[in-house]
Amino acid sequence: MIGIRPLNRRKPQAQAPERSRHLYLPPAYHKTEAMHRTILGIEGTAWNLSAGIVTEEDVLAEATATYQPETGGIHPREAAQHHAANIASVIRKAIGSAGDAQIDGIAFSQGPGMGPCLRTVATAARALALSLDVPLVGVNHCIAHLEVGRWQCGIDDPVMLYVSGANSQVLAYRGGRYRIFGETLDIGIGNAFDKFARHAGFSHPGGPKIESEAFAAKEYIPLPYVVKGMDFSFSGLTTAAKEALKNHPLADVCFSLQETAFAMLVEVTERAVAHTGKNDVLLAGGVGANMRLRGMLEIMCEERGARFHVPEKRFMGDNGVMIAYTGLLMLESGESLQIEDSMVIPNFRPDHVDVTWR
Ligand code: ATP
Ligand code: FE2
Repeated sequence: MIGIRPLNRRKPQAQAPERSRHLYLPPAYHKTEAMHRTILGIEGTAWNLSAGIVTEEDVLAEATATYQPETGGIHPREAAQHHAANIASVIRKAIGSAGDAQIDGIAFSQGPGMGPCLRTVATAARALALSLDVPLVGVNHCIAHLEVGRWQCGIDDPVMLYVSGANSQVLAYRGGRYRIFGETLDIGIGNAFDKFARHAGFSHPGGPKIESEAFAAKEYIPLPYVVKGMDFSFSGLTTAAKEALKNHPLADVCFSLQETAFAMLVEVTERAVAHTGKNDVLLAGGVGANMRLRGMLEIMCEERGARFHVPEKRFMGDNGVMIAYTGLLMLESGESLQIEDSMVIPNFRPDHVDVTWR
């Protein structure tokens, strides 16, 4: 059964001893309280609709419905319709699997993402927060990838390479914010792979097909390697790879596309590690499933004496758990949104968020 417990109504066992109330409360006290909070998070920035329920210690439940386009890439309006049709059942399923957990807050992916998809999820989150009379919190999707990775891998302060369909960024914490040390100047690497794969006749998503095709390669074909300062670009590379298909075997082009794109990403990640002096590298996003990318990052980390971390696959792509967990951290630090301030932000940048929870 789902129940109502606003954050300001504490569970009896989490009460501070009477005499502590007027004293400084040590961090351990807040920690004890936090461990009892249960947050439901909803993700739906693009193709994957997912609801997760977490406490600070555990994932209590997760339910997902995935939009799969019949042909071509993701159509934002169709994906939003898919989310609208499935959101009630996804939330019901997550709540049903969480046993008798009481929900203390609702978190939702506020951006970045596809406008129609974001609006569908935000509407459901607002309605749920109002009906349960619990706080609402808007989560930056990129930061959620990072926070769930920190949590699941047990690391404190990584440089994160976040590579998905729409996003490609190198992020790290400095001075109260997650800074973007490098990012794509045009399309995300996953979209680049998907475009190339569609051109080569593969269905969506193209990344896994490129990866398996690349194993049969015999030769590397030089393709444009575009790193500008700390940023990278994939659209010229994609066009060149499509052109290369006219004169080269598919396997060789797939291999060369991967090698070139991943070398660009690893170079920028390495420079971010060198610049920040951090000792951990975290990989996130759907493209992080690629074994060649993992291998290249592993070598780079080994050479620099850094540790390389990859969360379990279910926490790498878009998932409701990452939104719920980041929402929990934010609510614990006092962040929440009034309904009238909860509009979605399709181009929400992680470096626009004050990180109040670290
Ligand atoms: P975001 O909203 O964060 O941009 P997304 O909607 O693109 O996320 P993800 O699951 O993070 O979703 O990433 C999907 C992308 O990952 C697709 O472009 C897909 O082709 C790519 N991908 C998945 N598996 C692999 C793989 N093994 N190798 C390369 N790319 C992959
Ligand atoms: Fe994502």
